[in-house]
Amino acid sequence: MPEVLGLDQVRLDGLKVLLRADLNLPIDPISKEFLDDSRLQKMAPSLRKLEGSSVVIMAHQSRPGRFDFTDLSQHAARLSELLGRSVEFVNDICGPVALEAIKSLQPGGILVLDNVRMHPDETNLKGEIEDQEESEIVRVLWPHFDLFVNDAFGAAHRSSPSLTGFTRVLPSVAGSLMKNEIDALSIAIENPPRPYVAILGGAKADDSLRVASNLLEKDLVDCVAFLGVVGNFMLVADGHDIGEINEEFAMNQAQPNAREALETAKEMLRNFRERIMLPEDMAIEVNNSREQISLRDLPTKYPIYDVGLNTLRTLRPIIMGASCVLWNGPASYFEKQNFAFGTIEVLNMCTETTAMTIIGGGHTSALVEARGAVGKVTHNSTGGGATLTMLSDGKMPVIRSLIESYGTSQSTLSGKGLLS
Ligand code: 3PG
Repeated sequence: MPEVLGLDQVRLDGLKVLLRADLNLPIDPISKEFLDDSRLQKMAPSLRKLEGSSVVIMAHQSRPGRFDFTDLSQHAARLSELLGRSVEFVNDICGPVALEAIKSLQPGGILVLDNVRMHPDETNLKGEIEDQEESEIVRVLWPHFDLFVNDAFGAAHRSSPSLTGFTRVLPSVAGSLMKNEIDALSIAIENPPRPYVAILGGAKADDSLRVASNLLEKDLVDCVAFLGVVGNFMLVADGHDIGEINEEFAMNQAQPNAREALETAKEMLRNFRERIMLPEDMAIEVNNSREQISLRDLPTKYPIYDVGLNTLRTLRPIIMGASCVLWNGPASYFEKQNFAFGTIEVLNMCTETTAMTIIGGGHTSALVEARGAVGKVTHNSTGGGATLTMLSDGKMPVIRSLIESYGTSQSTLSGKGLLS
């Protein structure tokens, strides 16, 4: 278990606290409504502990250029409803408007700053943890705070000014959500029971491929099943012509390194073919209805939105025979009614198996909540890529930054009489 300071170890009343959270919510592409707000709900334990502090929340939503790259005003409004407390929103990150709002925030107040990825430093800086504190975001904001709390487990596999830039300039602790995730996932890292099956779906092909290569190369898993958009991406790597519309979509999701990701996928197939499961059939949308086709029917000019029945039939005994199942990312475009089937079936398998089940990823976890399956899986993580990374290569810059700041944070807080 890594040594990081937690909220319980600090006298928090009266402090001005900068809280980095992961408020990145799944948003319905059609209605633009939140599909799930469990990441907001899971912030409640930290916010309860911080009731006597002034709390400024910094977070991101999606990535620039995507349809769900929005400001955080709706997130603040929903958080306020959930907490039954007033939550202010300021349309600024580290400019004069934000600073004014931070200065006037009183103990007990909560202020949400705007989507931190609207600041170019947050997405442009590719440096090490040490470089992040050079960003304007950190230089301008840190002098206004007594404590940095990182509760953004979902983004703990990233390094950026807001995530890792404050731990060398402010005393820093992990939030309650961060601590819970680290504790829960440590079980699966230390000694995962075998056979261990990873089901990787969703759209972030680059993340899934990196994780799959790691799991396979380190011999941590017995089977990796690729479904969803990453499943289509793997079919391309395997030499299938899935149709222009589908190939273009899958490649776009792996940008900016799609070519490199394709090479990784090909190499993985060369080295670990017998441990990799790819879709055998799929459902396409033709004139607003669902049609099932097999690999033999490819290419198709219609969009592939789900896996087919044979793929699910092959997957079922693999999941039922596993002792540990890690599932991240939907198997289908499940927001579309006709195409929810594959993803719901995978969820059913995960709730029926006696294996230890760890589910991650915004959309997948949302479905677990929506279908009342929380009590039927071992751990429903708030992390997607973060959970996968922690369980594969373990390179978690956010956790590393908290570990590295442990000594100085402890002595600074102790010097101010703030350790409890
Ligand atoms: C997530 O939802 O996985 C995290 O918020 C990280 O988002 P990112 O993959 O866009 O960095």
